[in-house]
Amino acid sequence: MNFTPPGLHPYIKTRTMKNATLIPILGLSLIFFLNQSLMAQQSATESKIDSLLSIMTLEEKIGQMNLYNGFWDITGPAPQQGDAKLKYEHLRKGLVGAMLNIKGVEDVRKLQELVVKESRLGIPLLFGFDVIHGQKTLAPIPLAEAASWDLQAIERSAHVAATEASALGINWAYAPMVDISRDARWGRVMEGAGEDPYLGSRIAAARVKGFQGDDLSAPNTIAATAKHFAAYGFAEAGKDYNTVDIGTSTLYNIVLPPFKAAVDSGVRTVMNSFNVLNGIPATGNAFLQRDILKDGWGFDGFVVSDWASCAEMVAHGYAANLKDAAVLAANAGSDMDMEASAYITYLKGAVEEGLADIKVIDDAVRRILRVKFELGLFDDPYRYCSPQREKELLYHPDHQAAVLDVAKRSIVLLKNEGGLLPLKKEQKKIAVIGALADDKNSPLGSWRLGSDDNTAVSVLEGLKKYTEQATYAKGADLITAPATFINEVRINETDKSGFEQAVQLAKASEVVIMVLGEHGFQSGEGRSRTQLGLPGVQQELLEAVYAANPNIVLVLMNGRPLAITWAAGHIPAILEAWQLGSQSGNAIAEALFGAYNPSGKLPMTFPRSVGQVPIYYNHYSTGRPTPQPIVFWTHYSDESNAPLFPFGYGLSYTTFKYSGLQVDASDNKNIRVKVSVKNTGPVAGEEVVQLYIRDKVASVARPVKELKGFQKINLQPNESRDVEFTLTAAELGFYDNNGRFIVEPGEFDIWAGTNSQEGLQGAFTLK
Ligand code: BGC
Repeated sequence: MNFTPPGLHPYIKTRTMKNATLIPILGLSLIFFLNQSLMAQQSATESKIDSLLSIMTLEEKIGQMNLYNGFWDITGPAPQQGDAKLKYEHLRKGLVGAMLNIKGVEDVRKLQELVVKESRLGIPLLFGFDVIHGQKTLAPIPLAEAASWDLQAIERSAHVAATEASALGINWAYAPMVDISRDARWGRVMEGAGEDPYLGSRIAAARVKGFQGDDLSAPNTIAATAKHFAAYGFAEAGKDYNTVDIGTSTLYNIVLPPFKAAVDSGVRTVMNSFNVLNGIPATGNAFLQRDILKDGWGFDGFVVSDWASCAEMVAHGYAANLKDAAVLAANAGSDMDMEASAYITYLKGAVEEGLADIKVIDDAVRRILRVKFELGLFDDPYRYCSPQREKELLYHPDHQAAVLDVAKRSIVLLKNEGGLLPLKKEQKKIAVIGALADDKNSPLGSWRLGSDDNTAVSVLEGLKKYTEQATYAKGADLITAPATFINEVRINETDKSGFEQAVQLAKASEVVIMVLGEHGFQSGEGRSRTQLGLPGVQQELLEAVYAANPNIVLVLMNGRPLAITWAAGHIPAILEAWQLGSQSGNAIAEALFGAYNPSGKLPMTFPRSVGQVPIYYNHYSTGRPTPQPIVFWTHYSDESNAPLFPFGYGLSYTTFKYSGLQVDASDNKNIRVKVSVKNTGPVAGEEVVQLYIRDKVASVARPVKELKGFQKINLQPNESRDVEFTLTAAELGFYDNNGRFIVEPGEFDIWAGTNSQEGLQGAFTLK
């Protein structure tokens, strides 16, 4: 189908480059040809945009910069009453560029038709949605997926999400969230890839690729969004939306790299953030949005504000009123206004008064139209509205298989004393304790508005495939708060009436599986916490059961690192199972019974206590790093400096031995590193081989360790493999305090190993 909105037809036709496909192929290399045809396509798109811009009124242009929430679901503070009427009126007049939180082919088509048929130019809408870890079929929460360190599995998972979202009419995902965070108190750590910029960048690229594929106009690919630009993950005290005040080195070297990786991978949109950064709200921040993102990195997609973040600049004390906010945000490079109605209400007047330049508006609209062209919406605005795809693709068995695969890979074995795991099939009398074991909702995690409640395989259901011997006792209950539009569920804080039954069951059993942690709705947006232990009465339950039978496997479900220090000291086996999505119970059962050998590694440091937070492996050295007999060195009086579990940590049912680290620095541009890894245990297993460096002396001090490479390998018992890495300027350099990427000669330490704290050490000198 070749759709051209009525008002555009003649203009677009005359200005399209006609001979784009006639370039002679003979004698040209394929790459040259592809580049040429890509450039021709791009310039054809730009001509179409020129045509369109030339016939748009100022009001219609500003309309493209206006993003409204739909009429049913909301993901931010409740909109004003009576909104719907105005929104429909604006849709009809072509004063809306995109909608969010509309899903389903029928609803999407209805709105698209309204705009295409009734508005003067018929410019199709974008339909955005928080496709955070799947649409219907849910993959593990993103933090869990990051623990897989498996880029292919992560890319596949994002592709599954794109396929199902696009089958529901959605063409724009508000993901990936690429915010680095070092603070487990912040509830949104569940949405990101953890604390490390290198791992975060690789994962950002994989997720963008998974959503967007190679051809954005294909029906199963959608535009991705790198969010939240920038530094939202550095909210003071881990309190959501809080102030961010960080130095330039952290900004350039820690916060920005995953955004840059997303941009380099072609991400089509970037969402700014709620926070102020060093006094300037991100939404009104020209340094971030113009100097760095657009001018510096050449980003040619568009920037969308976060939910009403434009209006929030008033509360920040940065804008005097909503009109002022509209001007500040647009001038600073925030191209589309989500749900603040600031642009649509005030921007026209602001341009007429000379407060905002028409060039700013044209640039924003050009960017938005570009994405719409690339998605193929001008060829067919109903491209993502196929009832057949909607019927066939949601919860597709292939998607279930893909999310089960990544769910298994996301599990981290934290402790396995005395080889308690894997459980044997012939194991008699297994007690299963904890409300989360029998729950089909919590494992779906936070941020799954598009999916259906209670659709996860629970742990109890998963276990049934492996044993008939499991008996269940809840121990402690879940509490659901009175209905709100977004669920609030927590673990009971007072009621211990279920303890006795759990204790008796444990006494009568050989082994106890305790499924404890946070409910899926205890992390996510607006869910910061000051305590990082097991919530509610669970710690007491754990200790009571331990007193009756210490043969416990603790299965943790959580959306953030927890300070489970007592458990780590007492419980013999601990499996970190996060919130693993639709296939949770199956993945956990496979890991518990050894049908899958755990291979995940922590993407975030687990603290021993909240007081250590923020705690992260790639910190700087203080001037007093070494333990002293007197107090004057960097430490706490009441807690160790060490984490409970370090970044990169995770065990396996087998063991791996590292040997023969070799570093070849003869070619200054390609430092070659080789290490041999052998499976020295009884079963096949996967290991994430990690490479860290330390730049020992630099013009801006560098962290004590930085991840600069990793490879996930699979080894049979007794098999060994040489794993090779090449370090180039990209890995050896850093950003100075002016944001310039520099590589400085000098000495480097290097480690190859199984986590950020253990590894073989070498050294080299960069000339
Ligand atoms: C969140 C964004 C999200 C948006 C739309 C905001 O509250 O911060 O991440 O994409 O809502 O749902």
